[in-house]
Amino acid sequence: MSLELALSDLAVEVAQEAGELARRRRAEGVHLAATKSSIADIVTEADREVEALIRARLLAARPDDGFLGEESAPDEGATGITWVVDPIDGTVNYAYGIPSYAVSIAAVRGSVVPGEWEALAGAVYGPAGGDLFHAARGHGAYLGDVRLSVTAETAAGALLATGFGYDPSTHDGDLATVRRVMTMARDLRRSGSAALDLAFVAAGRLDGYFERGLKPWDLAAGALLVAEAGGQVSLIDTDSARPMLIAGGTQVHDRLRGIVEEES
Ligand code: IPD
Repeated sequence: MSLELALSDLAVEVAQEAGELARRRRAEGVHLAATKSSIADIVTEADREVEALIRARLLAARPDDGFLGEESAPDEGATGITWVVDPIDGTVNYAYGIPSYAVSIAAVRGSVVPGEWEALAGAVYGPAGGDLFHAARGHGAYLGDVRLSVTAETAAGALLATGFGYDPSTHDGDLATVRRVMTMARDLRRSGSAALDLAFVAAGRLDGYFERGLKPWDLAAGALLVAEAGGQVSLIDTDSARPMLIAGGTQVHDRLRGIVEEES
């Protein structure tokens, strides 16, 4: 078995176990542990517990790999491979009881900077809906056993998704982008989980997705899913504090990119 497939199998196994833990904890009641960048940016006790479980399982299976997670200290490792992990992507949904949240686990090689790394494998598991998305570099993207491919552009316009950061001072700029992008949209979704948005682009449930200011763990697994489903992913404005991620089938991606680049 190739390294990529072995890493993907591990990501899948750990994401499922972690997702079931998140779902159990959600049923028992959510407890806020802290706030982060702003009062709206929350961490639940479950985020921390689920990340600890993922980290322990990955460490047991591959003790020399690095780790970069949303809720704990990074570790460089010694193999050149780093696990990039969001234990619960969509934490605000999770806290409110909205079922749109997911465990996101990716293995990347080289840099841990999005756009500079080589993504090898990834899994996005939404335990509330039971959707298990996974991909291995060069081997395609799957939902369970079903191979995924992104959509082509249609005359009806693109079904797009986006998201907003937690810092209110960024909202005006993001809404200005939305206004411009709506010229190519049939409609716009805001799910609250970047990992699921990207997985949905891979699965053809969305035609495209764009968002500024994502963190590596929000996008690592999902971006590989889109690429392995035949789509394009770009990070632009990488010098700014809030680079823009654009994902979709080639035509939708290119149109989105054109609109966003006209702004700058
Ligand atoms: C958030 C979600 C959300 C996106 C935010 C992310 P978190 O991640 O992915 O959809 O709009 O930018 O921070 O905080 O729930 O892990």
